[in-house]
Amino acid sequence: MFELKGKTVLITGGGGGIGGGMAHAFAERGANIVLADINVSYAQEEAAKLPDGTVVQTVSLDVASLDSWMKASEHVLARFGTVDVLCNNAGVSTGFMPLVDVPPELFERVMAVNVTGVFNGIKTFAPSMIARRRGYIVNTSSMNGLNPFGSFAAYSGSKFAVLGMSDALREELAPFGVGVSTLFPGLTRSRMSQNDAGKAAEVDPARLAAIQANMMDPVWLGRAVVHAVEHGEPYIVTHPGYRATLAERHDRIMAAFGEPAQPGYSVSGSATLR
Ligand SMILES: NC(=O)c1ccc[n+]([C@@H]2O[C@H](COP(=O)([O-])OP(=O)(O)OC[C@H]3O[C@@H](n4cnc5c(N)ncnc54)[C@H](O)[C@@H]3O)[C@@H](O)[C@H]2O)c1
Repeated sequence: MFELKGKTVLITGGGGGIGGGMAHAFAERGANIVLADINVSYAQEEAAKLPDGTVVQTVSLDVASLDSWMKASEHVLARFGTVDVLCNNAGVSTGFMPLVDVPPELFERVMAVNVTGVFNGIKTFAPSMIARRRGYIVNTSSMNGLNPFGSFAAYSGSKFAVLGMSDALREELAPFGVGVSTLFPGLTRSRMSQNDAGKAAEVDPARLAAIQANMMDPVWLGRAVVHAVEHGEPYIVTHPGYRATLAERHDRIMAAFGEPAQPGYSVSGSATLR
C-alpha cells in the first residue's frame, strides 16, 4: 500500500474542478498539496477550500512549456524536497466542435496542453522517482479517451494519446517501483464542463438542466484517485455507465481481427517491435 501521509502530491490544473477534488481527497490522507495552474488565482481559490491544517503550496505553471515546469519544480523542491505523486490533470477542451471546424491553433493548443503537458510532467519528475525507486504518476484522460464520439474529435485524439502513453509508461516504470494510473472521468462539475454544457445549450437549451444534473461532484473522483494510488490500480473509472458502449466498441474492433491480409503470413513473438 502506498502511504500518503506526509507525502507531497503535485496536481496540475489544480485550480480546476477535478484538480480541486483530487487535492481535497489527498489532503484527507494528510498529504502535502501543490496546486499548479496556469491561472494561479484559481489555484489559490482551491487551496482556500482545503481541510484545515493542510500544508499547501500554489505555483504558476503552463504545462505546455518545459521551461515553465523547470521553474515550477524549483519552487516545489525548495519547499518540499521531492514530489512523491504527480497528477498530470490540466486539460483544455474544444467543446462541441466538429473536427473540420477546429481552427489549427486550437488543435495545436489542445495537443500542447493535454498531451505534451503530460509528457513534460513526466520528463520533469519521473527521473527522480526512478532514482528513488518510489513514486506515482496519475494521468487524466477522459471517457472520450476510451469512447470517442462526434463533436469532440480533437479532444478525444488527445485523450487517447494520454491512455497510450500511460499504458506504455506503466510498463517502463514498473521495474523501478513507480506506479502509473489513468483517470477516465465522465461528466464532472468543473469550469470546463460548465462551459461545454453552455455550448450544448446554444444548440438545444432543453439539454442544459439535464447535463448539469448529471455532473458528478469532483471530490468523489479525487477519492477514487487516492484509492488507485494506494492500491496500484492502473485504470480509474468513475462513471461505469459507459461500460456497454465501450464493450460494443471493443467488439467491433475484435471483429476486424480475421485472416492476415497477406495469405499465409504469421509473426513469431520475438519478431514484434516491442
Ligand atoms: N469535467 C469533466 O466532465 C471532465 C471529463 C473528462 C475529463 N476531464 C479532464 O479532467 C481534467 C481537469 O479538467 P476539469 O474538468 O477540472 O476542468 P477545469 O477547467 O475546471 O480545470 C482545468 C484547469 O486546468 C488549468 N489549465 C488549463 N491550461 C493549463 C496549462 N497550459 N497549464 C496549467 N494549467 C492549465 C485551468 O486553468 C483549469 O484550472 C482535464 O484534463 C479534462 O480534460 C474533465
